[in-house]
Amino acid sequence: MKLFDVYPLYNITPVKAQDVFVYDENGQEYLDLYGGHGVISIGHTHPKYVEKITDQIQKIGFYSNAVQNPLQVELAEKLGKLSVCEDYQLFLCNSGAEANENALKLASFETGKAKVIAFENAFHGRTSAAVAVTDNEKINAPLNCQHSVSFLPLNDSEALENELAKNDVCAVIIEPIQGVGGLDQGTTEFFKEVEKLCRKNKVILILDEVQSGYGRSGKFFAFQHHQIEPDIITVAKGMGNGFPIGGILVHPRIKSKYGMLGTTFGGNHLACAAAISVLEVIENEKLIANVNEISAYFFEKAKSLPQVKKIKGRGLMLGLEFDFDVAELRKKLIYEKHIFTGGSNNKNLIRILPPLTVKKEHIDRFFEALVSIEMLDMSIEKRK
Ligand SMILES: Cc1ncc(COP(=O)(O)O)c(C=O)c1O
Repeated sequence: MKLFDVYPLYNITPVKAQDVFVYDENGQEYLDLYGGHGVISIGHTHPKYVEKITDQIQKIGFYSNAVQNPLQVELAEKLGKLSVCEDYQLFLCNSGAEANENALKLASFETGKAKVIAFENAFHGRTSAAVAVTDNEKINAPLNCQHSVSFLPLNDSEALENELAKNDVCAVIIEPIQGVGGLDQGTTEFFKEVEKLCRKNKVILILDEVQSGYGRSGKFFAFQHHQIEPDIITVAKGMGNGFPIGGILVHPRIKSKYGMLGTTFGGNHLACAAAISVLEVIENEKLIANVNEISAYFFEKAKSLPQVKKIKGRGLMLGLEFDFDVAELRKKLIYEKHIFTGGSNNKNLIRILPPLTVKKEHIDRFFEALVSIEMLDMSIEKRK
């Protein structure tokens, strides 16, 4: 059988990884400033994480959600404490799209309405409702287009107020920092206004923290930079450090009913062990403090590069914008300098999503590599 060919692949085969490094079959080391798409939070193959998962699989890896699973309770308590969202309720699933799908469904149950407001350039996943609220026609099949969605510009409170006044909206879904879209973000004033308008119109506010959550922004959740209180928070990527797990945090004002959500694999023993270990490492190794320290260092370094047009993002969810398409530059970084970076809808932007354990020396290595690439000098020449 052949693979269903949907990914354009770089010709690199990682066989081993440790902390911020990935190694191919020839032993070549790569600096991972992409974190496998913002997934690696506590570093590849962290020894505590490996130990916890190994220990768990030897006891029990999976049983259905029809029986007690104390690991889910332990995970919920730890997550509540570390994120300072102790009042919320946790439902566990397997991915970011699934988290958003469940959040939207819950909002629709809660309000009895169906329309969703999302934002231009948003990305929320590939499943039915999640992709419908994703602003990219190319990945929406006719089946997905049956959902009722309005896309509004970021930071336009008036447009939001007018749309909500139609009284047919169940949810507003928003990324605190856009990931795939290219690191744009709403202002604090806008987020506060969104919260106020949702409350006034009895509409569920969903914060998609799938990429920005788990400390990546420099706070546990990126919405916490704006002092708002969402109705539902969705999480995935960094939650399992590569083990597939996602979840929704549901405000206590939303009440559960048997059967309204469900999953076979979500919240299984092995996934919970992985997610508990991630939280323990984030806390014990003070990784959020590290995010803030390294982020400030990155900004400092990036500011001194005249080739960089704009530095975007927060914490270790960062973007460097140039005045040319960066596809070739990213190829050079991978094949010549052995550094992984990410791309986005903005073709001129390099995305930096390293493990939260990254150190100054790795940032130095990235900037040294960047300035040694010839095409950067050409970009300065062009601008003169
Ligand atoms: C903000 C955001 N939401 C949702 C998703 C979808 O997550 P998954 O690929 O785990 O379904 C992504 C993935 O990139 C994302 O960045």
